Amino acid sequence: MTGPAEAGLAGRVALVIGAGSIAPGIGIGRAICLALARDGAIVVAADREIAAAEETCAMVAEQGGQAETAEVDVLDDASVEALVADVIERHGRIDILHCNVGLGKSGPSDGTTADDWRRISDANLTSLHVAAQAAIPAMREQGRGVITVTSSIAAIRYPGFPHLAYGATKAAASHFATALAVELAPDNIRVNSIVAGLIDTPRIGVTLAKSYGDRDEKQMRAARDASCPMGRMGSAWDIAEAAAFLASDRAGYITGTSLVVDGGLSATVRQPAEI
Ligand SMILES: NC(=O)c1ccc[n+]([C@@H]2O[C@H](COP(=O)([O-])OP(=O)(O)OC[C@H]3O[C@@H](n4cnc5c(N)ncnc54)[C@H](O)[C@@H]3O)[C@@H](O)[C@H]2O)c1
Repeated sequence: MTGPAEAGLAGRVALVIGAGSIAPGIGIGRAICLALARDGAIVVAADREIAAAEETCAMVAEQGGQAETAEVDVLDDASVEALVADVIERHGRIDILHCNVGLGKSGPSDGTTADDWRRISDANLTSLHVAAQAAIPAMREQGRGVITVTSSIAAIRYPGFPHLAYGATKAAASHFATALAVELAPDNIRVNSIVAGLIDTPRIGVTLAKSYGDRDEKQMRAARDASCPMGRMGSAWDIAEAAAFLASDRAGYITGTSLVVDGGLSATVRQPAEI
């Protein structure tokens, strides 16, 4: 490169897996689709909940971007492989693969069965391998590609309540990105994870309701805000901007890293008196 990189993603084909939101509002995958499309990418918004993916596409269209919907279940390898093959067949390429699905089971670890563990691991980890392996041949042929994984602060810290299978598989997801990055660096395919802090998405009202003791949802959100050094949880947009940056040529020499986007949460030891 002889000067500053092009900022945009015009003409790039981006597949986002987990592109909806499990409750109304802006989930991280939805925000990522909107940010990638804003920067000019043609986005394939894939989700198990087709209606949620359609809503994402409608929002992209509303902002003047280009997106299409696809149905996928990351717990079904064949469905993931068929999705990636379909994107390549229809668009002739795949430039950006963002794996965003994350499942977990909070609560004491003795409540997590081996079947729960396998399901969480299949979604958070195995599906990354299946999707990446389906995309890599086309990326190699193109001479470029970007693979990004949404990881979590639970990969590097105890998140404040028991979330063992989630944290362990997210840690593995970050390592997946680090190790695969080295393997693919000679092919100009960059692989990174985003270590998202406490993020205020519609999901937390659904999945974390019981993880914050007797607090109601409003109190739970307030406790999460207070525990962050910046006094607020992150938003889905905070993660989406990092994803758009990593997908772009501006991040052309960034690979194998875990980009922490947590408002300083992992940089501090919060004392009880502070929160
Ligand atoms: N919200 C947070 O505080 C937070 C913090 C750190 C990391 N994350 C991670 O960010 C990602 C998105 O989180 P979110 O809060 O927006 O949650 P979300 O659950 O709303 O988004 C995940 C999307 O994946 C889809 N999905 C679920 N199971 C699927 C399957 N089997 N196949 C295909 N799609 C499936 C859901 O329908 C949903 O649209 C997850 O990986 C999560 O672990 C979230």
